[in-house]
Amino acid sequence: MQAMQSIYETGVLLQQYLLFHYGTAEDQLPFPFGPRDALFYPVRCVTAFASFIGQPGRALDLGCAVGRSTFELARYAGEAVGIDLSESFIKAAQAMQRDGEISFFRLEEGTVTTPLRRSLAAGIDRRRCRFQTGDATVYDPALGTFDVVLAANLLDRVRSPRGLLQNCVRYLRPGGTLILASPYTWLPDFTPIEAWLGGRPDSEGRRVETLARLRTLLEPGCKLLHTAELPFLIREHARKYQWSVAQATVWRRNP
Ligand SMILES: C[S@@+](CC[C@H](N)C(=O)[O-])C[C@H]1O[C@@H](n2cnc3c(N)ncnc32)[C@H](O)[C@@H]1O
Repeated sequence: MQAMQSIYETGVLLQQYLLFHYGTAEDQLPFPFGPRDALFYPVRCVTAFASFIGQPGRALDLGCAVGRSTFELARYAGEAVGIDLSESFIKAAQAMQRDGEISFFRLEEGTVTTPLRRSLAAGIDRRRCRFQTGDATVYDPALGTFDVVLAANLLDRVRSPRGLLQNCVRYLRPGGTLILASPYTWLPDFTPIEAWLGGRPDSEGRRVETLARLRTLLEPGCKLLHTAELPFLIREHARKYQWSVAQATVWRRNP
């Protein structure tokens, strides 16, 4: 009963994201089989592009959730700022920043949970990070400009993907690097259909792919440097997972 109250009081999604960001491989996938290369996505969204990131002064993680990619960006950047709409996610990221470890529940079956406490990976200077609530589709000049902007799994979760892209570029200094990653799961619950960047026919009935639309929208100001396929695994409960493949694109803002 206590476990049931805990997970539902603190939010199933929050617990799921804490496991996704901070759980060990064994916590997330305790079977001798399964897609191990899909683990640690919030880490790979940064490390897979280390050669493009370099050693930036400032990095921005839009839609940072509970913060793992922001912490990973702090391995490279002097300052890493994580922004998310969700106050409970930001509070969890701030708790990890303060304590270097965090407690959460892993849902097993029905209302049964396992309590876990996990530490942040070694070698990250937590003082370099800052987390705040904010809407990535609303430009905030107070944030300043950044050498690197990351938006992982955010594009298909906002009402205005075009507004998000515009802001990503506005936050980038000339010559800066933009990393977008998304499985392009376009859903009317998140994004009005007329605002989808792909996954629906254009006015002449032609099939439109999101990458082609990204190029149309971004290439006037940015150059596409690289694309990559990034699998990721989100554990819902002991016997149910979401396995997805994000497409990552790396862009350089024109000098
Ligand atoms: C699918 S999750 C991805 C989180 C994280 N980047 C990752 O890869 O695990 C999307 C995140 O974006 C946040 N979000 C949704 N709309 C947002 C907005 N307009 N501005 C900032 N964050 C937003 C959600 O709260 C959630 O944490």
